[in-house]
Formats: sequence, structure tokens, C-alpha cells
Amino acid sequence: MKMTTLIACSSILLSSIAFAQSPPTDPPQGRPAGAGQGGPGRQGGPGAGGQGQGGGGQGQGAPSGAQLAQRLMQADANGDGKLSIEELPPQFAEIFPTIDTNKDGFLEESEILVLASSQGEARGGPRGGRGGAGGAPQNFEGAMKQVNRGFKGLKDSAFDATTKTKDLEQIQNVQAGLVAAKGMSSSVRMAPQAKAKYGDDNAKYLMDMRMQLLAALTTSLELESAVLAGNSAAAKAAVAKLDASEDKGHTEFQPDEDEKPAAPVAKPAAPAGAK
Ligand code: HEM
Repeated sequence: MKMTTLIACSSILLSSIAFAQSPPTDPPQGRPAGAGQGGPGRQGGPGAGGQGQGGGGQGQGAPSGAQLAQRLMQADANGDGKLSIEELPPQFAEIFPTIDTNKDGFLEESEILVLASSQGEARGGPRGGRGGAGGAPQNFEGAMKQVNRGFKGLKDSAFDATTKTKDLEQIQNVQAGLVAAKGMSSSVRMAPQAKAKYGDDNAKYLMDMRMQLLAALTTSLELESAVLAGNSAAAKAAVAKLDASEDKGHTEFQPDEDEKPAAPVAKPAAPAGAK
């Protein structure tokens, strides 16, 4: 898909958030053109499956790609797990075929996720390595930040029925970040302690780093199984194991802060109205 198309799709998708937050109650034909654009939205409205909003997206800035996809999927009036063109507001007519990548005449959640993640890029989200909300990280550091965002939310989780949805979302972040990091590990400059251990054996260095990222990923899968099974003791044990994995990985491979090139100093934002 061309980037311009992506950006156009993304902006329509963004403008449809209000629609997505407020699932349709009218027959689709009755909805006026442009419904969802700038409409007030029904914050806090119960909506279909409203309590499962991932426990944190609403009213806290941009929703993640997964949250956005979940919200759009609330338009699934007949509950068949996919969106037909009739279930969507009219402004989707033009971009529907573009999002429907498998051309089956329906939008599945996975197809919306692909588009939603491109929305981070369209807004300049991942620039500088940070995975935008739902956007794919662009470098190893950005991937690690994504792992960290997910892991922070898991460290103090009670792993009970009330945290399950949120836990699964955070686990998704950890896994996505670890997979991305694994794919970009060859770009990590050898830290001094790694240089001392591996010398010029770059291949061995990369294999060992990949192995440790894989071990962390495996633990995150165990964690997911424990959460899905409602086994909070096993979930907490997996978090402790992941914590140890982080320590080991960082001790062996992470350069010290002062080893890194200095980050550019950000200029303070000019006060509103100042020239
Ligand atoms: C739960 C697991 C982990 C968490 C939460 C985590 C978190 C982080 C964070 C926050 C950073 C700093 C990113 C920045 O520069 O702002 C980082 C960097 C790094 N992490 Fe992890 N990490 C985890 C696991 C691992 C593992 C298993 C490895 C194994 C190789 C690893 C290797 C690295 C390396 C090499 C860096 C330095 C990247 C660079 O400066 O270019 N991490 N990690």
C-alpha cells in the first residue's frame, strides 16, 4: 500500500474514532454522511463489550492500535467477528477495499490492526525510535521501550479477573517489543563489557543476544498462558523470571548511559503567542 494511501486511510480512521467509541444503534442507512466526524462521542456509554476497553485507553490521549481496532470492531452489529461495509459509516466506502487486504468483502480485526499501526507512522509517532501508540518501533531502543511500557504495567499486577484484559494487552506489548528487538539486534553496537567477552566474534555476540531475547520472549509466552488460565501464582513467577532476564540481558549487552552518544538537547517550547 502506498504511503499516501496509508496516510489518507489513517486520517479517516482517526476521524472515525468518535464513531468507534459509540457503537451504532441506528440502521446504517439512516446514519447521515459524516457521522462520527467531530461528533461528541459517548464517553462512558456502556456500548457493546464496553467494559473490556483494555482498561486504560479512554480519555488518556491517543488509543493504541489494538484499542482502536477493538473500538472499531464494536461496529460489528451482527457479531460475526468482522465488519461489512454496511456496518461502517459512509466515509469508509472509499477506503474499504484498501483496508480489505484479503479481498473477502469484510474487514477483520487483523486488517484494521495493520492500518492502525500505520497511523502511528502517519502522525510521525515512531520517529526517533519510539513505537508510537500501536506503531511499530523503528530501532532496537524503541523496541526496548515498548517492552518496558508493557512490563511496567505487569510488575505490580494482581493477576486476577479484574486485571486480565489489561494484563493481556501489556503482554502483547512486551512480546511485540521483544520480537521487534530480536529482529533488530544486529544493529546494537557492542557494549564494552560485551566487547571484553566476545572480542571480534560478532557472530557469537549476536547469537547470544538473540538467544537471551528469545528466552525473554518464551517467558512472556508462559506468562500469557498463566494469565489466560487464571493462574496468578504462575503469572507472578513468570514476571519474576522476565525481570531476571532483563537484568541478565542488560548486564551483558546494554551499554552504560555515559557510553551512549549524547542526545540532542531539546529546545524549550516557546510560550504561546511568543515570536
Ligand atoms: C522485560 C524485559 C526487558 C525490559 C523491560 C527492557 C527494557 C529496556 C529499556 C527501558 C532499555 C533502554 C532503552 C533506551 O535507550 O531508552 C533497554 C535497552 C537495552 N536492552 Fe532491554 N529490556 C528487557 C530485556 C532485554 C533482554 C532480554 C535483552 C537481551 C539482550 C536486552 C538488551 C538490551 C540492550 C542491548 C539495550 C541497549 C540498547 C541501546 O542502547 O542501543 N533487554 N531495555
